[in-house]
Amino acid sequence: MPAPTTRSRLIPAPRLLQERPGEPFVVTASTAVTVGTGSAEVALAVLTAETLSRWSGTTVEVRYREVAEPAQAGDVALLVDPALGAEQYRLDVATDRVEIAAGSPDGLRNGVATLLQVMHPLDGSFAAWPVHVEDEPVHAWRGLSVDVARHFFGPEDLRVVVGLMSGYKLNVLHLHLSDDQGWRLQIPSRPGLTERSGSTAVDGDPGGYFTTEEFEALVAYAAVRGVRVVPEIDVPGHVNAALHAYGELTPSGEPTEEYTGIDVGFSRLHADLPATEPFLRDVFGDVAAVTPGEYVHIGGDEVPTMDPGEYARLVAMASDAVRAAGKQVVGWQEIATTPVEPGTVVQFWDPRMDPAPLVAAAKAGARLLMSPGSRAYLDMKYDASTPLGLEWAGHIELRDAYEWEPTALVPGLPEGSVIGVEATVWTETLRGLDDLMTMLLPRLAAVAEVAWTPRERRDWDDFAARVAAHGAYWDAEGLAWYPSPQVDWAVDLT
Ligand code: ACM
Repeated sequence: MPAPTTRSRLIPAPRLLQERPGEPFVVTASTAVTVGTGSAEVALAVLTAETLSRWSGTTVEVRYREVAEPAQAGDVALLVDPALGAEQYRLDVATDRVEIAAGSPDGLRNGVATLLQVMHPLDGSFAAWPVHVEDEPVHAWRGLSVDVARHFFGPEDLRVVVGLMSGYKLNVLHLHLSDDQGWRLQIPSRPGLTERSGSTAVDGDPGGYFTTEEFEALVAYAAVRGVRVVPEIDVPGHVNAALHAYGELTPSGEPTEEYTGIDVGFSRLHADLPATEPFLRDVFGDVAAVTPGEYVHIGGDEVPTMDPGEYARLVAMASDAVRAAGKQVVGWQEIATTPVEPGTVVQFWDPRMDPAPLVAAAKAGARLLMSPGSRAYLDMKYDASTPLGLEWAGHIELRDAYEWEPTALVPGLPEGSVIGVEATVWTETLRGLDDLMTMLLPRLAAVAEVAWTPRERRDWDDFAARVAAHGAYWDAEGLAWYPSPQVDWAVDLT
């Protein structure tokens, strides 16, 4: 009989975990996922049953029940309990049943993610040791931003990314859909964007783009797994793909050449050109139309050559277009130098910039999303010998990605203004899923714990011991990863 491994595995660390005496719960032919009739709960139950079936080799069914009915022997019961907060959950594994109670389907998903992490192979099936967990996240926004513009990562790759995210209770996939090198989302009102700029990428590598239908399918796939997609169209800089597609956006009226290098800061929109505002309205309107979530990201970063007045006008045009389409604005840190409306999400990324505008924006009601380049930019090299990645923000070993506190990055922020944490992965040097995963893993697990677990429950040595057990899981899923020398990966899982 294997030793209990529960405590050594869970990432992110839960608030409370108590191992209980008794024999493990084992998935058998009489196991069923039981659920009420809400559509989000049912979708989660189907997914959970599919996962348990795949792992155990035993068909696990879904059974519907009256909401108030308690769990029976053999059940993996999903119960909505209005006494719990939306993302809060309670997990009880007993020898003959599993009960997950939560305040909403999002909380149930968190509980299922925990259950799947405490399960392990046993006697040809899957099992979990008896345990009681009470848990909820510190931060509501726990994200990963993927640059699909420098190199294209399509629906198949992003479904793998979404699966990985949901396992670590990350709930926002931010997609950087446009940049100088390519335009990655079909925009029905401006078909030239993908027709003329969809096939380019860094170094002349193959590009690609999402059709509207493919994008909607990805958004739906992610939603079932508790992941909201936040699309980013980066303006008013990082726009060469747009200028290459539509010459009316340039002062000469001529389209620019395609660009496949990796410099930044050379392309820009022009506030005084008559085509600019209709372009922004059309593009953000079409993006909002394929976005069921609340947020659309307008970019706003790295426009060094534009005077501040014109920059502020263009940020306002983009923000107005997003709000007119019924969405809330997200933008990179630089937008805090312009007047931002309360509720806007401002994404911190560059610790070299003056923090004063961020503090002022937060005091005026903006919310801050924390993506510090030196901690959460997972395209930074691990060390000088890492073949992939960049190093402008330094090297980020696993421990660097783990040991930081999002609410302490910017002194003077009002209490409660940090909405969450987002890792980013920029893809100038990354070609294909293996490259992407090599940069994400193991660091994404570290950032996920920073986003979820209270500071007083985070401890590097404890994390290093837990993450060691995840390498075997990534191997089993066929995911490439970096065996950081800061961790002893040779754990015995049996
Ligand atoms: C950024 O890294 N330019 C947001």
